[in-house]
Amino acid sequence: MDGTERRYVALDSAASTGALPAVADAVAAFLPNYSSVHRGAGFKSQYSTEAYENARRAAERFAGRDDTDDVAVLCRNTTEAINHLAYRLRFSAQDVVLTTVVEHHANLLPWGRVAARREWIECSPDGTFTVEEVERRIEQCRPALLAITGATNVTGWLPPIDKIIEAAHQHGTRVLIDAAQLAPHRPLPTKADFLAWSGHKMYAPFGTGVLVGPRDAFTEGDPFLAGGGAVDLVDLDEVLWTDPPEREEAGSPNVVGAVALGAAIEALESYGWDAIIEHERALAARLRGGLAAIDGVRLLGPSLDVATLAVAAFTLDDLPHALVAARLSAEYGIGVRHGCFCAHPYLVRLLGLSEGEIDRYRRNVVAGDRRGIPGAVRASAGITTTPEDIDVLLNAVAELASGRPAPVEYRQDSVTGDWWPISDEPWWASPERSTGAACARG
Ligand code: ALA
Repeated sequence: MDGTERRYVALDSAASTGALPAVADAVAAFLPNYSSVHRGAGFKSQYSTEAYENARRAAERFAGRDDTDDVAVLCRNTTEAINHLAYRLRFSAQDVVLTTVVEHHANLLPWGRVAARREWIECSPDGTFTVEEVERRIEQCRPALLAITGATNVTGWLPPIDKIIEAAHQHGTRVLIDAAQLAPHRPLPTKADFLAWSGHKMYAPFGTGVLVGPRDAFTEGDPFLAGGGAVDLVDLDEVLWTDPPEREEAGSPNVVGAVALGAAIEALESYGWDAIIEHERALAARLRGGLAAIDGVRLLGPSLDVATLAVAAFTLDDLPHALVAARLSAEYGIGVRHGCFCAHPYLVRLLGLSEGEIDRYRRNVVAGDRRGIPGAVRASAGITTTPEDIDVLLNAVAELASGRPAPVEYRQDSVTGDWWPISDEPWWASPERSTGAACARG
């Protein structure tokens, strides 16, 4: 913003990761020949169909399902995968869906649509819960499904999912793991009944998601999406749906996204989990420990001795989260996310907001004023992040927390709640902002 050239420091991988070079290369090599999938006899269609099915096999392998009868349904993203499953499970009026207050909206809102009875597992002020608490709630409400995250997108906390799945199964409860944040960072739990994750958070940013589940969950009844490619026979008053997984994938699929996903899986497999986890554990300690040590910074979530992903949500005593994120971007070239990270119930708890505060924010938002929306700043890292990237952030946050004056005035947009520097420098001048831009949508 001051005209100085700076290296862009991307610390928002919990939202979306950039394409790995191997992914970009695989996509570039595939593009000249891409064509329809399962819809053509020509060479390009055959080639594209094989590429698509190879990606599906890679997803099954990645989920540890290659020797099982489970299927991987390819879709757009985790949100779509969970909506898909929610439609498919066909709960009765008595069925309870148990989920948790730490979930992303993608693993909260779909259940509200389809389940007449929902229950939640609460968290402590540090944003965690125990296996015992999960077990207690399962015993209390006997759910048909436990829908739970494998890693939160806010604090990076990793619930002990293997033990949780075991406890749920002992009570006959099936488990969906929302693996959107887990998939790029840790092996997927092989015992989960259902898994949902996205390519765009694991270095395949071309719009593919995966829903994995037992074949028999998809063999009866109509699929979530109705249309071509999902059927064997259609007459005007009759439809014979085809077999899963194609039954679940009506419409022309995103074959380029599938190729990207397959390439990202192969890249992660070639690095190996040991190397990935070691690299990211060191980043997590540097990031979270570094932030917690800065005067005026409040790190949300579990204490530093609890292992998390390299994700940190934090607030600064005297600066609103939206202004901190705007200044990190405009003055330091650092990309982070701010707001409530599509996890409003979790943020309300982590920030310790009172009913009165929530009510005031609600009234303001209904009146179209988003200036006071509560939230935090989040920095998140992945395999392409370096320790130097983390240090750039820590130095910048330390400067802001120490009261470094802004070099220009910032103004807040009441409709979006975003702050903008008042500047004519390229990119920052108001006509250059994208229309209706909002940095903190929930
Ligand atoms: N779920 C994504 C995030 O946490 C978008 O930022």
